Amino acid sequence: MELLELMKTCRSIRKYQGRQISREDMEKIIEAGTYAPNAGGGQRRFIVDIRNAELAEKIGRLNVARFDRSKLSGSFVSADQPSIIDDPTMKSGFYGAPAVCVVFAMKNFLYSIPGAFCCAENMVLMAAELGISSCIVARGEETFDNEIGAALLREWNISENYIARCFVTLGYCDGPYPEAKPRKSHRAKIIE
Ligand SMILES: Cc1cc2nc3c(=O)[nH]c(=O)nc-3n(C[C@H](O)[C@H](O)[C@H](O)COP(=O)(O)O)c2cc1C
Repeated sequence: MELLELMKTCRSIRKYQGRQISREDMEKIIEAGTYAPNAGGGQRRFIVDIRNAELAEKIGRLNVARFDRSKLSGSFVSADQPSIIDDPTMKSGFYGAPAVCVVFAMKNFLYSIPGAFCCAENMVLMAAELGISSCIVARGEETFDNEIGAALLREWNISENYIARCFVTLGYCDGPYPEAKPRKSHRAKIIE
């Protein structure tokens, strides 16, 4: 698909079929992440791909555990694809996705957070090109800031210099694929 068309049709998906994405596609998505712009050219990121639905559910629950909805009261994300902001009964921040990538970035680096999200966006676009749905999910830091999370980081041998910044959920959309909201006008200016 033409790139602009792909960007215009690619939505954040929060309803997934149980069907797993192939390892081959997963590897392409990870590779796309590694080619994202990275401040200083240092490639200070690390991706962990979780393809175990039970483990993803466990981590997805940690992602919501400390989520403070009161800070976002009044926000509304989507009726078609409700987020944890819209539906307080949701227990996992990963929405039942069969695969979830954790994007880690170097802890004490000035552009650690934007670098991680650039990586996530490359993964989202690669997934869309492969017909795979996704959603960027925040709160990487809080998700692992507890005993269960710390034990997982040890198990995965994550360097102490790295911290989880965000996630990319991956899978196949369950139900109708949503359309984009109309774009707000006057959000750009071209200076000649
Ligand atoms: C930095 C960032 C953080 C986000 N965090 C979450 C999140 O934690 N949970 C979630 O469901 N969606 C999250 N999203 C997805 C947005 O909710 C989504 O992009 C927005 O509602 C617009 O919908 P669309 O992507 O379908 O156009 C995040 C997006 C960005 C860019």
